[in-house]
Amino acid sequence: MELDVSSNKLTGAIPDDFGKLVNLTMLFLYKNQLHGSIPPSIGLLPNLIDIRLFDNLLSGSLLPELGKHSALGNIEVPNNNLSGELPDYLCSNRKLYDIVVFNNRFSGKLPKSLDGCYLLENLMLYNNIFTGEFPKSLWSVVTNRLSVVMIQNNNFSGTFPTHLPWNFTRLDIRNNRFSGPIPTLAGKMKVFQAANNLLSGEIPWDLTGTSQVVELDLSRNQITGSIPMTIGVLKLNTLNLSGNKISGNIPAAFGFMSVLTILDLSSNALSGEIPKEINKLRLNFLNLSMNHLSGEIPTSLQNGAYEESFFFNPGLCVSPNNSIRNLPICRVRSNIGDDTSRRLITLFSAVASIMVAGLAVDYDVLSGLSEQNCVGSGRSGKVYRICAVDGADGNRILAVKKIWNGQNLAENLEKDFLAEVRILGEIRHTNIVKLLCCISSSEAKLLVYEYMENGSLDQWLHQRDRIVAPAPLDWLKRLQIAIDLARGLCYMHHDCSPAIVHRDVKSANILLDAEFRAKIADFGLARILVKAGDLKSVSAIGGTFGYMPPEYGYQRKGNEKVDVYSFGVVLLELTTGRVANGGGAEYCLAEWAWRQYQEYGLSIDLLDEDIRDPAYIEDAFTVFTLGVICTGGQPSLRPSMKDVLYALLRFEHKYRERGQQDTVSEETSLLES
Ligand SMILES: *[C@@H]1O[C@H](CO)[C@@H](O)[C@H](O)[C@H]1NC(C)=O
Ligand SMILES: *[C@@H]1O[C@H](CO)[C@@H](O)[C@H](O)[C@H]1NC(C)=O
Repeated sequence: MELDVSSNKLTGAIPDDFGKLVNLTMLFLYKNQLHGSIPPSIGLLPNLIDIRLFDNLLSGSLLPELGKHSALGNIEVPNNNLSGELPDYLCSNRKLYDIVVFNNRFSGKLPKSLDGCYLLENLMLYNNIFTGEFPKSLWSVVTNRLSVVMIQNNNFSGTFPTHLPWNFTRLDIRNNRFSGPIPTLAGKMKVFQAANNLLSGEIPWDLTGTSQVVELDLSRNQITGSIPMTIGVLKLNTLNLSGNKISGNIPAAFGFMSVLTILDLSSNALSGEIPKEINKLRLNFLNLSMNHLSGEIPTSLQNGAYEESFFFNPGLCVSPNNSIRNLPICRVRSNIGDDTSRRLITLFSAVASIMVAGLAVDYDVLSGLSEQNCVGSGRSGKVYRICAVDGADGNRILAVKKIWNGQNLAENLEKDFLAEVRILGEIRHTNIVKLLCCISSSEAKLLVYEYMENGSLDQWLHQRDRIVAPAPLDWLKRLQIAIDLARGLCYMHHDCSPAIVHRDVKSANILLDAEFRAKIADFGLARILVKAGDLKSVSAIGGTFGYMPPEYGYQRKGNEKVDVYSFGVVLLELTTGRVANGGGAEYCLAEWAWRQYQEYGLSIDLLDEDIRDPAYIEDAFTVFTLGVICTGGQPSLRPSMKDVLYALLRFEHKYRERGQQDTVSEETSLLES
């Protein structure tokens, strides 16, 4: 039996007699002017599954036995004057899917029966006086249907799990006392509002990658660290990080957030210049006040609309023709002299012949290198595939690079040779090709490597007609290659001390083994950095057109960010299938990608036809965007390889959750060494 007298002008109290309607299943009295308390007998009805009393003037406590005698599914009592705790038995039948009690004066802890409330979908408790720790079981990922949780303006405490349930679409916890780190926002989450809590730690890198968040409000917490570069892959329209302790630069990647309209980074410890990429945004609201920003404000922001956006940043200024109230005019910048001190690396000069590994390779075999078994040719010599007799396992296929001892080239090539021997002799990593030994004689120098069955990535992407390649590389293989490459570079940049820059990362230098696992090769140009991040550490001569970052053009020096740029180009090759430096001097893949992105956004036409699998298109777009971010013009604003690796590993975790671990790496450690 149903009783529905909603949306009338009923006044007075709810009759006690309603408690005698034993067959009543639904009681709808909402939108009236009912007074007084709810007769407790209603809570004893054995068949009641749906009770809606919202928008009345009811007071007193809510039926203490509600949920004990019937399989209650839905309760909606918002906008009344109800007080006391929620009924203990509310979800004891485990059928409850909606609890909507906002705008009342409920207090105390949430009932224990919520612990097993696994059908719950909506939980709206906001604007009450609830206290105590929020039940952890409600965050539990298993069988969780919960999608909307609005519990703002209470006094809840507690921490979040690292991963919130996949089905969450909206989580509003503003003005409570939640603490601990910020959870990962993967899954279906669109809105996360957490202003004015006690959340701490850094903004997680894995915010990005698979997140669909459009509104993120973490203002007035205790967040530290810097804003992750990879924030650029989020499609946010609102970002509020104000009132935290965030430091570092504003990432140029903000330029990618094309739908961002509200940006509040005020009251933090941000420094450096405001990236000019912000010019690309159409912001309705911007607040960068109370930071330590400096330099000229991007031109699009130099107008009256942003007059209140920059208070208390003593270093900010505007150009002479654009005066904004309260902001000084920028002085003409003087050129700071280029630091000419060259800290060139002293390479081992007397390396004549070093046996790097104990493998015995017959030199004669090696001198029989002929055009027939030549498998490639690099900048310093040709590469041959040979079969050597290895005492232990019988025959073994090896790759041999022969460096000529020409008259004029001698000095450069000697340098390449020494660099390769020294660096590869020192480092060992699954994603870096192994140098087994080297042999130096008067007419040639030979470097002997493990043989990589599937040749170079370049061949698979751009010259499939010239190799025996039955099927193109599918998306999962490409992603794995990107992750392998990121791992190798991350190791060189962050785990080697001193750090090593490769300086010639390109698809032709990425080799694939029988299982298509990737290794970085050709360290002829690699240099050891005096100090990681030191821009003056290496001279930037060499590199390959299409993979060289713009800073090569003007400073002829670079740090490990040159590799990040080249890595970004490889990501673009993997996603678009295009060559890095095809059609003549005008064409450069990184610029092409940026222009396409600017003009048409992320469209399917960007992607290589071979990977337009609907299941992975979104992911391919994200990797494409990462590629664009890595190829940003300013080295300091490019992400580090560590950042990029974390962003890519998000996919690995996601696919593993979906049970595809057979195709994607099973390694659990982020960085193997
Ligand atoms: C900008 O942020 C500061 C500090 O958080 C605040 O005091 C100020 O009112 C904000 N300005 C605007 C226009 O909202
Ligand atoms: C301001 O003036 C400079 C030269 O005086 C000019 O190059 C620049 O384009 C001007 N900026 C704007 C926004 O008009």
